Amino acid sequence: MKRIAVLTSGGDAPGMNAAIRAIVRKGIYEGFEVYGINYGYAGLVAGDIRRLSAEDVGDIVGRGGTCLYSARYPEFANREGQEKGIEQLKKFGIEGLVVIGGDGSYQGAVALTKLGFPTVGVPGTIDNDIPGTDYTIGFDTAINTVLESIDRLRDTASSHMRTFIVEVMGRNAGDIALWTGIGTGAEQIIIPEHGFHLDEIGEAIKEGRKNGKKHTIIVLAEGVMTGAELKEELCQFDPESDTRVTVLGHVQRGGAPTARDRVLASRFGAKAIDLLKEDIGGVCVGIRNGEIIYNDIVDTLENGKHVPNLDLYTLNKEISF
Ligand code: F6P
Repeated sequence: MKRIAVLTSGGDAPGMNAAIRAIVRKGIYEGFEVYGINYGYAGLVAGDIRRLSAEDVGDIVGRGGTCLYSARYPEFANREGQEKGIEQLKKFGIEGLVVIGGDGSYQGAVALTKLGFPTVGVPGTIDNDIPGTDYTIGFDTAINTVLESIDRLRDTASSHMRTFIVEVMGRNAGDIALWTGIGTGAEQIIIPEHGFHLDEIGEAIKEGRKNGKKHTIIVLAEGVMTGAELKEELCQFDPESDTRVTVLGHVQRGGAPTARDRVLASRFGAKAIDLLKEDIGGVCVGIRNGEIIYNDIVDTLENGKHVPNLDLYTLNKEISF
């Protein structure tokens, strides 16, 4: 294998640039010619491919977003698009591909693998919802961004004795809500992976007010319902509550990556190169108990399941009253 390529796909995540840098630099170090594909699978199908030099990835390790741009491209689920993608790769003489992204990106990598093209998946999404790894690139930065925002909300919540519902991203996963709920001392965390009773939450808020609590922070994972819907439902149980809703939205996806994300991304990128050097494709990299690992990507996606650390949910119940 002489020529390889890298693309980023789906929702961007802080740290993707650090992964691209590691793939390009370590790839060149190991004797590969490395190509960058712009705009994810859309760019792959369109042949938007260029050779990258070590200089091309200079000064990006600390930048958010992705210098290769990204796109959601559901058309890649069709066999026709996948075959066109492989045709483009072959046209450039590319023999191995690294895909950095989340669930949808992994589906594309699985499709390429099943068509026999050596592909390595690198988990990059703020949602932290990819099976086969404890952490994904971007999660640490996103939760730090959320922490800072909730700390600010707490100030104004206390001044006005208000309840704040903070809707955070995560698609169908509750990791962002869990970690930031614990980290900000939120009174309630609501996630898709754990049941909850609105009447109990309403009662707890009332009880807190009675006991002199100056504010209530509820961190709500977007996969459960919207903040506006929760406010409406909660009003039935606690009509006196002065409640505001804050949707943090895409601010969670931007910003300079944390040290942890930069290092994780660099380690993942380097591992992807090690694997391609050994002619190993059809795999995805991950981190387990601090160690960089890899797994079969088809098996991981078809049989693996991401489960957040629900001990954190229990812990929050024990310490936030
Ligand atoms: O997967 C990352 C993510 O930010 C999710 O948390 C969120 O639900 C989704 O992407 C938003 O997607 P888009 O940027 O396409 O609106």
